[in-house]
Amino acid sequence: MIGVFDSGLGGLSVLAALVEALPQADFRYHADTAHVPYGNKSDAEIQRRVLVVGGELAAMGCDLLVVACNTATAAAVQALRAAHPGIPVVGVEPGIKPAAQETQSGRIAVLATESTARSSRLHKLIRDHAGGVEVHVEPCPGWATHVEMLQLDDPALAADIRSRVEPLLAAGVDRIVLGCTHYSFLAPLLRQAIGDRARLIDVADAVARQARRLAGHLPHGSGRLHLLASAHPERLHAALPRLNLGHLSARIA
Ligand code: DGL
Repeated sequence: MIGVFDSGLGGLSVLAALVEALPQADFRYHADTAHVPYGNKSDAEIQRRVLVVGGELAAMGCDLLVVACNTATAAAVQALRAAHPGIPVVGVEPGIKPAAQETQSGRIAVLATESTARSSRLHKLIRDHAGGVEVHVEPCPGWATHVEMLQLDDPALAADIRSRVEPLLAAGVDRIVLGCTHYSFLAPLLRQAIGDRARLIDVADAVARQARRLAGHLPHGSGRLHLLASAHPERLHAALPRLNLGHLSARIA
């Protein structure tokens, strides 16, 4: 069984890619909705929550863990690996490398939570994979909360998205990395703001491929999905159709 977790709904974008890559596997998705958002919390707080939630999934028998959250990966993936040396852990990191490889203008941007934006892991990723490329790191406070509240049509959000993206485009950015799994659900609004001036980079499929490589040795499951949440689990079920993930409902055990 594969355990997948995030602060809330964002990791469902990764779960959808995982289910597509591993349709026979059983998944347990844990949304830490009692503590969402992670992006404005300290590293120590995020680490505490990641060890609790990851530890619960490990105790339930998950033999592979996917941290479907950039913020949790940046702050705590090392601590989680150290706490569970026998369980492979896949993290999610912003797609700096593909963006730097693809850019024609030599300028890319990454949209992320405040915590990820200031993390040393992100800045190391940029140093290691974006040499010679101009990288704009844009923290986007509040965006994950809009997704959590399913306020995807909120004109104030659309205006905030435009006001953050416009200066990046004016600076010549042609690849925009979604550095938070919640932002996958903002892709339609982002595309409206961007038009054909830049391309969005989402790593959900790459993460799913990595998980499939690591899951190779695991016994096949029966394609079932368990949804858990530390607060309001019913909202998680109700959110699936709102996030265009209604097809996952049929797998719920
Ligand atoms: N979905 C998370 C990420 O990928 C974090 C959102 C939040 O809780 O602030 O960064």
